[in-house]
Amino acid sequence: MPKTVTITGAAGQIGYQLAFRIASGQLLGAGEKINLNLLEITPALDALKGVAMELEDCAFEALSEISISDDPSIAFMDSDYAFLVGAKPRGPGMERSDLLQENAKIFSAQGKAINENASRDIKVLVVGNPANTNALIAMSNAPDIDKSAFTAMMRLDHNRALAQLASHLKCHSSELSNMTIWGNHSTTQYPDVSNLKLNGKNIASSLDITWVKDDFIPRVQNRGAEIIKARGLSSAASAASAAIDHMRDWTVDTKTDDWVSMAIPSDGSYGVSEGIIYSFPVTCENGSYSIIQNLEIDEFSMASMKLTEKELLEERAAIEELL
Ligand code: NAD
Ligand code: LMR
Repeated sequence: MPKTVTITGAAGQIGYQLAFRIASGQLLGAGEKINLNLLEITPALDALKGVAMELEDCAFEALSEISISDDPSIAFMDSDYAFLVGAKPRGPGMERSDLLQENAKIFSAQGKAINENASRDIKVLVVGNPANTNALIAMSNAPDIDKSAFTAMMRLDHNRALAQLASHLKCHSSELSNMTIWGNHSTTQYPDVSNLKLNGKNIASSLDITWVKDDFIPRVQNRGAEIIKARGLSSAASAASAAIDHMRDWTVDTKTDDWVSMAIPSDGSYGVSEGIIYSFPVTCENGSYSIIQNLEIDEFSMASMKLTEKELLEERAAIEELL
């Protein structure tokens, strides 16, 4: 029985990357058949038809059916995996939080459509910004679906951090592990190297702390803006790649001896308020994630984690009526 994968905003920049990579088997493997349900707004349906034609022309082994629609209740019908990408991106000079009111309504409507139509075991990844609070809105509008099904993307930040560290340490990013991004996918996120390992050996204490605080952390926090400035458009291929990493690890298990960063409904771990979608270090097994517990948190880390929590609480207050 093919799995159904829904992509919203499928004619946009990220959607255009994501659809082909998923259809080629990079999410579930080339041997696993999938149906692709692609959602767009009505004016983008012609462009979406073009995307569907190109997908057909690839003759992907894994791809069974393609459905295109501007109706969320069709796009989320029996959906097993949903990538909620469709939303307005920010332009130069904007913060992601500037998109809050504009994008919030999309996620309440899609949460309702998920609640009414999707598989009860759906896994949802919100990419559209501000991703964490949009995930909270979708989750709150889908009361019949387990809350743990709603996540937001921090994997791009996680991968960006590994890439910066690898370049600084003159190693390959695959040799690094146990990196954590805490909090919000915004400039308040806290890229935390306290547990960083190189080839299995803890190297946190040997890192140049001035470089970590003055270069590394702000670089990762502001990488989205750096890309927008360079491209004139927000990150797309790297975002699609991170979305696949996130969903694949959630489905297929994380590597042993490592963890990944996922924004998930807070359960109060590390003193983080419940009722927000906050990024924690997690491992995934048998389709479920669990937060790594009992990490030592120093004063700097705690202050940084609180700052990003505060921003998420403020974002929640700004859209309270949609919850
Ligand atoms: P884009 O403008 O190229 O594409 C967005 C698409 O969404 C458009 O085709 C648009 O028609 C569609 N859309 C808008 N409203 C919709 C709705 N209600 N239903 C279905 N489709 C809808 O933008 P993009 O570059 O693909 O970025 C998409 C979102 O992802 C933006 O919000 C961007 O900020 C965000 N983003 C997040 C991360 C992350 O790490 N979380 C990374 C990169 C981009
Ligand atoms: C990113 O981090 O690249 C995206 O969230 C796009 C943005 O607005 O920064």
